[in-house]
Amino acid sequence: MIDIHTHILPEMDDGAHSWEEAIEMAELAAESGTHTLAATVHANLPGMDNERRMEVYVRQIEHFRTILHSEGIALNVCSGMEVFAYGDFTRKLHPGDFLTLNGSRYLLTEFPMDERAAQIYRTVDDILESGLIPVLAHPERYACVQRVPAHVWEWYQMGALIQINKGSLLGRFGSRIQRTADALIHYCLASVVASDAHHADVRTPDLTKTEEFLKNEYGSRTAYLLLEENPRRILQGRETIRKEAIPYRYGEGNISSDFV
Ligand SMILES: [Fe+2]
Repeated sequence: MIDIHTHILPEMDDGAHSWEEAIEMAELAAESGTHTLAATVHANLPGMDNERRMEVYVRQIEHFRTILHSEGIALNVCSGMEVFAYGDFTRKLHPGDFLTLNGSRYLLTEFPMDERAAQIYRTVDDILESGLIPVLAHPERYACVQRVPAHVWEWYQMGALIQINKGSLLGRFGSRIQRTADALIHYCLASVVASDAHHADVRTPDLTKTEEFLKNEYGSRTAYLLLEENPRRILQGRETIRKEAIPYRYGEGNISSDFV
């Protein structure tokens, strides 16, 4: 499997606290069947020095790769950042400011949980306009999506990719988020599922249960698409496989309510 969203690099954000924890997380990932992951540290959080962050990031990822090699842990670590889109973010978006997923056109983008849908539309449009493709991190967790999941259908039609969190699917964030994540997969809007791992004990990069769950609920082909095929295409900078999303128009009710 390939995991495009992890906070495994230590001492950079609210993810791994130490090199020991990062190694433990790498072992968990590899044992669960993940062969490649992206180390997507938070970026552009309020008050962050983005320039200095880039320098530190390069040092940390190179050191991590050396450690994994010497420890004999078979895990490829690709670069990336989870960019927090708030305020006038897109005006600051210049090539090279942030790390895209493995140097591709795909930018892992998250929003404040209570962001207005209108602002997300504008940002998705601006990112696409800049030549990058936003991979929307865990939209099932956003309040506006829980109220009107059809927004995701619109963002998907605009060209954004949709990344669902493992924890959302498994119910870690509550039943409402779980139902929304489920609806997004049923409506063929999800492009990829990732761990968004933060630690070795909670929110881990172990994808064993996630893979099992996806196979049982949606079938092996969907599990493979979301955990291997599309993540690989993203890291290689290729087009993803986009299933035809089931059309949804406003006024037809909340799509997640179909699955309550
Ligand atoms: Fe994250």
